[in-house]
Amino acid sequence: MKSYSEIPKDPIHQTWFHSLQFIKDAPLFLEQQRQKHGQVFRCRIFGFDIVRIQDADVTGTILKNSHEIVSAEKGWEVVLDDIFPNGLLSKDGKHHLFHRRIMQHAFKKEAMLAYFEEIKVWSEALASDLALKPSVDFFPYIKVQTLNLALKLFLGLDPSEAVSKSISKAFIDMVESTMALVRIPMLNSKFHRGVKGRAHLIDVFSSLVKQRRKQPRNDLVSFLCDSTDEDGNQFSDEQIIDHIIFTMMAAHDTTASSLSSLMLQITDNIHWQDKIAEEVSRFPNLSYEQLKDLTVSENVFKETLRIMPPVVTAPRVFFKDVNLLGYDIPAGTRTGINIYGNHHDPRYWNSPEKFDPTRFERGEDKNHPNIYIPFGGGAHKCIGMHVAMMEVKLILNAIFKQLRVEQVDPSQPVLFKKVPIWHPKGKFELKFKSA
Ligand code: HEM
Repeated sequence: MKSYSEIPKDPIHQTWFHSLQFIKDAPLFLEQQRQKHGQVFRCRIFGFDIVRIQDADVTGTILKNSHEIVSAEKGWEVVLDDIFPNGLLSKDGKHHLFHRRIMQHAFKKEAMLAYFEEIKVWSEALASDLALKPSVDFFPYIKVQTLNLALKLFLGLDPSEAVSKSISKAFIDMVESTMALVRIPMLNSKFHRGVKGRAHLIDVFSSLVKQRRKQPRNDLVSFLCDSTDEDGNQFSDEQIIDHIIFTMMAAHDTTASSLSSLMLQITDNIHWQDKIAEEVSRFPNLSYEQLKDLTVSENVFKETLRIMPPVVTAPRVFFKDVNLLGYDIPAGTRTGINIYGNHHDPRYWNSPEKFDPTRFERGEDKNHPNIYIPFGGGAHKCIGMHVAMMEVKLILNAIFKQLRVEQVDPSQPVLFKKVPIWHPKGKFELKFKSA
């Protein structure tokens, strides 16, 4: 048995650069550390000593969390607390379960059927709009669109273009500020912009909560207004607003990220567009029940999420002393689930860097229960996974009925930021043209 201090790590003068390397390219940084030190190593990010364990079995132990050995709340607090506090990821144990059950109302079959109809109309309009544009910088475009959809589906809102832009800007500033190294709201700093964004959203959503308290509807806000906490008290406006802000961020940012990555993959691997189009032609009046039959679209989406997972790593803190892979790790130690690392582990995936949706037909993802985890796992597994899958299938259906897509300048490499959410760094210009 080895002690915590024996876990390999860089000398102190090198750890000063870890945060910058992590922000620049988290998957690359973690892989370089693994190659240098082996599958268990320590690094220093945002001023915290962190132990990383790149192993599929340990990933399973942490995700399953059967003996409450880790805390998601403590793990995420450094990233989320000032800007996205009190969402589902900021809760543990029974408290988390209680809130999750209430939120689950918004994801039941009845709600999913209603979302299906809304998303269908939205994606048809989106495809028509894309057909009219000479070209489009895809990520900012789709981010506003997916946000508008989330506002409509979960909050029943239909904001004007100006309001939607201001909400979108607030979310962009807030998400960016979660990676700020200096977390004091100095005028016009990254963190200050995040704090201002949050104040704006509180303003917008406060009036919505007041409206829904007076006139409930069949949406997430009304469910939350109608619910009581563990002590039987009604949720406060603040609690409801925190849930809304977190869920809206989780809902639109990840789908905008994965749709951009998907467009990159199918413009680099053009024959997959024909395969999607052929599948689409077999379902001219797609129904909710037929969604499960869209296996080509599903595998293209799954493979995109494997290669470019929107959330590359999920932080946790050990609640208890544990022994993992021969090392004693004391309670209070920070760690993280390496989603990207598991998705690219050559022990389980053939040519992991290759875009090959057929690997899901062959069941390569079943080589180990924890090597394919774009939506996480265990108690905190993404609550919106089925909505995301439905959204992407309906968009592909609407687009490939009539269009094909290409990069405006394929010679220009597309660069990506990988934390906090994977997305194109600069312009990602696409052109949608008639098939
Ligand atoms: C491609 C799309 C998406 C991806 C890749 C994704 C990924 C994830 C991951 C990895 C987690 C777990 C994080 C952890 O364990 O630390 C998570 C949780 C969560 N996601 Fe998603 N997500 C997506 C779409 C959505 C959508 C559409 C919604 C809302 C409708 C949503 C709402 C949430 C919420 C509320 C949680 C917290 C669940 C809990 O703590 O119980 N996500 N997501």
